[in-house]
Amino acid sequence: MRAGAPLQGTVPICGAKNSVLKLMAATVLAEGRFVLRNVPAIADVETMSDLLRSMGMHVERAHRGHDVTIDRPAEIVPEAPYELVERMRASIVVLGPLLARVGRARVALPGGDDFGPRPIDMHLKALEQLGATFEQSHGFVEGRADGLAGTNLLLEYPSVGATENALMAAVLAKGTTVIDNAAREPEIADLASFLNRMGAQVLGAGSSTITIEGVDTLHAVEHTVIPDRIEAATFLAAVGVAGGEITLEGARADHMDMLIEKLSDMGMRISPANEGIWAMAPDRLRATDVATLPYPGVATDYLPLFVAMLAVSDGVGIVTENLFSGRFRYLDELTRMGADIRTDAHHAVVRGRPQLSGAPVRAPDIRAGAALVVAGLGADGETIVRGAEHVDRGYEDFVAKLHALGADVERG
Ligand code: EPU
Repeated sequence: MRAGAPLQGTVPICGAKNSVLKLMAATVLAEGRFVLRNVPAIADVETMSDLLRSMGMHVERAHRGHDVTIDRPAEIVPEAPYELVERMRASIVVLGPLLARVGRARVALPGGDDFGPRPIDMHLKALEQLGATFEQSHGFVEGRADGLAGTNLLLEYPSVGATENALMAAVLAKGTTVIDNAAREPEIADLASFLNRMGAQVLGAGSSTITIEGVDTLHAVEHTVIPDRIEAATFLAAVGVAGGEITLEGARADHMDMLIEKLSDMGMRISPANEGIWAMAPDRLRATDVATLPYPGVATDYLPLFVAMLAVSDGVGIVTENLFSGRFRYLDELTRMGADIRTDAHHAVVRGRPQLSGAPVRAPDIRAGAALVVAGLGADGETIVRGAEHVDRGYEDFVAKLHALGADVERG
């Protein structure tokens, strides 16, 4: 891709990857036919579909559409094989539903990834407190539960995955469960509204205290997935770097308050529009400092996008990554594009330049890959991003959508 004309037009925002994967896992909890709407056509959804199929479930996407039908038979195989967990560590969210509904689960241990270590200790501790027991051997964790019982859970940290596993287990536990210091992400609230539609009794999701009254059975339902705030953020960053004016169709500004606040500090004009978000970039962004925090703070997934913007902003910005220790690897790739970045542990100082210099770079993960593409929109000459399959894990038609907004970008 090359720097080119400012972006212009409307881009449709897909359903949220980090919501739909958990909703798919939750279908383990009840027999019958589920229909999920607004499901993005991305590789991670394919991996979760393969995982459900490997358990004996039937998963089908309507031809070229965003509706996915999942048939959950009476009997399923409560196992997540290594080859699928290795492809996508979010597979671990089947653990809670399997224990709650089948009473047994054998799930490959996810191990670390490109961000550094990704432990599941909080998932296991919460499920143990609900009455499950675990053994680990040969790279698998095997869990058993002879009927879970509601209890008070206090998470050491508001982990998204641990909150989701505990929530999906607690809906079928006997009695009341309270999850304190729960993650507050909009995707957790979406999961709770899906579970409630299935017959669960969940209160307070989206706040840091979630109360669950266990029920005996749940039933299959239809549900529309919330829009992907990270995909929306990616297009906001793209217009910030390339300039222009765009509308994000279907995006929800109320899920992105802190991001919008930060981008406004950088000089962007952003407002809720008819069923979406309208955004206009200034001639040049102003630098700001950014630190990642659990929701409603600045999401760790946004940080590579901020660095790409700061690299061409006016001034100096300090970014701080508080969640994933290994997430700074893409900084070296941006430096190859001429970005002026100094790192010290989990801080990076980014001095803005008027323009970056196009270069071949490698995407280390989904979000960093998208950020390198965004950076390429502000770079002189050609940028080639290798490892685009990482981007495919989380973005549907990313290149085609950018191209439709007028970006000079193509898929090799
Ligand atoms: N952690 C532990 N022990 C645990 C669980 C988490 O120490 O048992 C630590 C992690 O190592 C990390 C922090 O807690 O330092 C936060 O992890 P969290 O559990 O909140 O993250 P996650 O559930 O593994 C989800 C998203 C990530 C997103 C994070 C943070 C999905 C599938 N993934 O991961 O999204 O970055 O929350 O918001 O929902 C992405 O979409 O590209 C992505 C990586």
